[in-house]
Amino acid sequence: MFVNPELKAQTMARILIVDGGPRRNMNTAALCDAFAEGARAFSPEIEVAHVRLYDLPPFKGCMSCLACKLRGRETGLCVIRDGLAETLAAVRDADGLAIASPIYFSEWTAMTRAFLERLVFPWLHYTDFSVAAARKMPLAWIYTMNAPESMMPDIRKHLSILENATARGLGDSCPDFVESYSTVQVKDYSRYAMDGLQPDAHVAWHAAHWEDDLAKARAAGRRMAEKALS
Ligand SMILES: Cc1cc2nc3c(=O)[nH]c(=O)nc-3n(C[C@H](O)[C@H](O)[C@H](O)COP(=O)(O)O)c2cc1C
Repeated sequence: MFVNPELKAQTMARILIVDGGPRRNMNTAALCDAFAEGARAFSPEIEVAHVRLYDLPPFKGCMSCLACKLRGRETGLCVIRDGLAETLAAVRDADGLAIASPIYFSEWTAMTRAFLERLVFPWLHYTDFSVAAARKMPLAWIYTMNAPESMMPDIRKHLSILENATARGLGDSCPDFVESYSTVQVKDYSRYAMDGLQPDAHVAWHAAHWEDDLAKARAAGRRMAEKALS
């Protein structure tokens, strides 16, 4: 996962970006790239790995096998050996975690949700309801959506339980958020029956705000690099 052999000897901190967007060259992927750029620019001692969940071999969400709750065998790591296993193990080796997703029906994409279930459920102790990952690290969320900023409080209601559990598990009481609103969903709106979305407004918003969104992602990457190295 963290595979740059030249950097390996000197790398002091590793940041893992888990990208739960299906589209390779669109909004979410671009913000992930900007986040990585900011982190790398902070220091040569930072290594960044960018995992695209939709490119992994097949995987599922939590199967409720409860192997992670067996007495004396609570390792905090999901035991299922499928396409997600390596990524879950990489979180354990990381010094910082960024999770990115487009908003689908006011939540994460299905793959992001599956990843979060498999990541966080093994951290949850049904003895005292504490949530604890084996390793503490800074956390950042990267979201893109059609909605304007004013709708974010409603969307957040759907996200907050797992967002909070993830932050508790990683011991980051103040995770970073990069949120990009009113995104341009297709390159040429004239080809699609999407008039209700008011494409002109999206294109105008994009022209005015997209560079700022990229800058926010770079800044969040820098902040995570700084925290990961401290
Ligand atoms: C299946 C689906 C559901 C979506 N649901 C929402 C939604 O509930 N709220 C919203 O603001 N945008 C929604 N969107 C729009 C995307 O979140 C938005 O276009 C995002 O920027 C896409 O990211 P991408 O360009 O990286 O693919 C939805 C898009 C799809 C394909």
